[in-house]
Amino acid sequence: MIKIKVPATSANIGPGFDTLGVALNLFNTITVEKTESTQRSVLWKNGVIEVADEENYVKVTLDQILAQYGFDQIGYKLIIGDCQIPISRGLGSSAASIIAGIYAANYLMDFKLSKEDIIQHATEIEGHPDNVVPAILGGMVISCIDEASHKIIHSTVQFPDELHFKVFIPDFRVSTKDARKVLPKEYSLAQCVNNISRVSMLINALNTKDYDLLRFSFKDEIHEPYRIKLIHQADLIMEKFKSLNTLGAFISGAGPTLISLVKADDTEFDAIINPFLETLQHTWTLKSLTVNNNGTTYEILE
Ligand code: HSE
Repeated sequence: MIKIKVPATSANIGPGFDTLGVALNLFNTITVEKTESTQRSVLWKNGVIEVADEENYVKVTLDQILAQYGFDQIGYKLIIGDCQIPISRGLGSSAASIIAGIYAANYLMDFKLSKEDIIQHATEIEGHPDNVVPAILGGMVISCIDEASHKIIHSTVQFPDELHFKVFIPDFRVSTKDARKVLPKEYSLAQCVNNISRVSMLINALNTKDYDLLRFSFKDEIHEPYRIKLIHQADLIMEKFKSLNTLGAFISGAGPTLISLVKADDTEFDAIINPFLETLQHTWTLKSLTVNNNGTTYEILE
């Protein structure tokens, strides 16, 4: 039996659309066990089926990978354990499910796949690398796709531990599909230059720990101006972050979660923001998360 733990991720980080992502210390955990028969079953930790099998990305991915490598006859018992990553909130829940499915398949196939194979499969299934790569490797990662080989090229950014993520999760969902539909098909040269300059600045600000520079690094013109309208009262919340002079703020992935970056010693932030959250029309849950540097981990329990 294997126990697999996959972290949440926040993709884009402002200007790094479909490119940058960071793993966070919030996890989904599953276990999978090979059975003697060819029967495949899914059990939920609390006994209540939360998602039908055909919409359960862990099972769908697990079956897809087993079929792709000719392991159709393997039976298993899959247990969906502790799921801390909220669904359709922009924190990489689908990436986490896909990765859990691939790791589970890999265990059942006697670890046929390398980490790079897993990255490749996960990106193909998810459609973009910015959640799956940091979820597998941990840390903050830049990813791009080499067109000639279709390979995912990635590089890890030294993310300072002293920066913490204030993660604001609303009680409503926005699907990635809907959030991608609102994006324009074309952008002006000025918009492209904005994003190139900001994301370059962002990486160097983190490398040099120049946090004043960070404040200029998150402005995005590729997705946030279009998506902010899908997130109820997000403009108000972003204004509030600005007034608190945090290091920066951005939509997490495709939203609707919003993130503000602060230094660990910023003790005033929660005290001011919590009463403000009470004034909003929806319920927003604030989680203080740190970067996860381990990525997906597993433990063999037999
Ligand atoms: N880069 C993706 C997007 C992340 O913004 O659409 C969502 O999973």
